[in-house]
Amino acid sequence: MANFIPEDKIEEVKNAADIVEVVSEYVLLKKTGRNYSGLCPFHSEKTPSFTVSPEKQIFHCFGCNTGGNVFSFLMKQDGLSFPESVRFLARRCGIDLPRPEMSGKMRQQLSEREQLFKINRYALEFFHAKLVSGSQGKQAMAYLKQRGFSRKIIDGFQLGYAPDAWDGLLNYLRHKRVPEGMIEKAGLIISRKDKNGYYDRFRNRIIFPILNMSRQTIGFGGRVMDDALPKYLNSPETPVYNKRRVLYGLIAAKNKCREDGTLYIVEGYFDQLALYQKGIENTAATLGTALTDEHIHLMKGFVKRAVLIFDSDEAGIKASERSVGLFVKEGVEAHVVMLPKGHDPDTFVAKFGPKAFSELAGNAMEVMSFLMHTAEKRHGLTVSGKLAILEDLLRPLASITDVSARQLYIKELSERLGIDEKAVLEKVRETIGVLAKEHQIQARRAERFSQAAEGMPPKQTQVRESRQENRLEQQIVAMMLQYPEILPEIDKSNVLAYFMDNTLLFLGQLIMDHPPDMEKGVSNLMSMVDDAEKRNILASLSIKEEMWNQRDCRKIISKLINHSPKRHEISLKAQISAAERENNQELVIKLLGELQKITVLNRKQMNAVLREQ
Ligand code: CTP
Ligand code: MN
Repeated sequence: MANFIPEDKIEEVKNAADIVEVVSEYVLLKKTGRNYSGLCPFHSEKTPSFTVSPEKQIFHCFGCNTGGNVFSFLMKQDGLSFPESVRFLARRCGIDLPRPEMSGKMRQQLSEREQLFKINRYALEFFHAKLVSGSQGKQAMAYLKQRGFSRKIIDGFQLGYAPDAWDGLLNYLRHKRVPEGMIEKAGLIISRKDKNGYYDRFRNRIIFPILNMSRQTIGFGGRVMDDALPKYLNSPETPVYNKRRVLYGLIAAKNKCREDGTLYIVEGYFDQLALYQKGIENTAATLGTALTDEHIHLMKGFVKRAVLIFDSDEAGIKASERSVGLFVKEGVEAHVVMLPKGHDPDTFVAKFGPKAFSELAGNAMEVMSFLMHTAEKRHGLTVSGKLAILEDLLRPLASITDVSARQLYIKELSERLGIDEKAVLEKVRETIGVLAKEHQIQARRAERFSQAAEGMPPKQTQVRESRQENRLEQQIVAMMLQYPEILPEIDKSNVLAYFMDNTLLFLGQLIMDHPPDMEKGVSNLMSMVDDAEKRNILASLSIKEEMWNQRDCRKIISKLINHSPKRHEISLKAQISAAERENNQELVIKLLGELQKITVLNRKQMNAVLREQ
């Protein structure tokens, strides 16, 4: 990749930027001994395994094994290229980098993403200037004033105006010598049907620039000033704009979020701006799309709680149902506020003021309780009502992957409805199966689609080879099924932790959770497994009747433990816990280093095995 920054400058930036400070912008860090730790922004977790060493100026996550220095952190967190991350930090630290004028060869070499950021920045400046100076923007300015927005907000969020012309921005960018192909790639102009040139995408609209968490301009929204349609027009997906991954206003909300621990999530641009102007600065907007896990990743480092604000029951219920699993998975509390009929956050604060808003938000219901409550209101507590309530809640409950959280909700629901907890659990299980199947179908469809697109033949279903450890693992699952007396031994030896085969591990855990009884035995288990392949394995392992005894079983267990590629990893993890208990930080670091080496090695071995198959 092109890199025009001299080595010594890179070194200077690296020395000037403190990794703890930079990471703190995204992750809530706590000092633990010599290091800092927090929840990893790169994978879902609830106990912190993300560690930053101020001495070594590196970070490492023991959960997902991501690690690196301050540049790699920003590259991963914000999706920057290496030079982008250096430039970003240089700006922060006040270090001047030599920056050649964009021209000729240099322009070609600059990474595409950087060019797009630059073009978007030019466009932002163009739109903003049109709004605040000159005559064309007068009407737009009046519109914003009439909707109650101050000059401070207009400047702070760099709102703009796209003139009523086909080539306003196009000409401006041509003057800046930006190639048309790139302007099109940025989504700012559209190719004419006859392929004869281009015209501006945004015309005669109020413009909202959309920034990412590094303050780069990634896209725009534009609103008409009358009743014309469409009311809003947004940038298309581009190499730098992905609506699944951005929340409007989040970068501006960040500081207040840290203070407050809460982020208010609204739907529209004007909702975010109106709340911000009224001092409720910890607000961001989804821009009319559904909340995604990537949105939650973005906020997770600096909020404990998200409050979803909705202006209608239907939209609120739908969005809450979809997002409940996401929030539980990311360990962010989620609450829901329903505004009075006919109001959105913008009109609500305009009429009732920020205090009324805070009061409403203070009474927000936790998202699952909200769903139970609305379902109760809708169906009533008659027998058929209760069944309908249960039906409504199955999908949201099934989408919660955290088993203990799901269990708590199931308990709460069964108590509220007076239905046997086991029965609710059974229904939820069925639904989990349905969701998994839907997911599978979608994934297969996507795979077929991408294969068709690439002109590849569909993949053959893989035949499972039985390698040495796989065979031992199979034997152990078989003995668990056929000789339940061994289950306490399985538990005590923790042998399942040494399994390499995820399917067998899943089955082993299932058996531990639901020991097969004499009468119904395996068939009971079967009904809990929705995956056909897993059911087949379950069947084949329970069907071959063997004669088991304690001694032989123990032998197989210890053989697996002694041969498992995971044994070093597990013993190291135990040693690390012990060292942590003794507060021996030096030993912890040393062991962690070893652990990292081993896990890399294990992955290589695994890959080799998979390739062989
Ligand atoms: N939206 C969109 N395209 C549309 C309509 C809406 O992208 N055709 C997005 C916009 O981000 C908008 C949000 O969905 O801000 C919410 O839409 P809506 O409630 O209709 O608009 P408001 O934000 O309330 O806008 P206004 O107050 O100006 O009517
Ligand atoms: Mn509105």
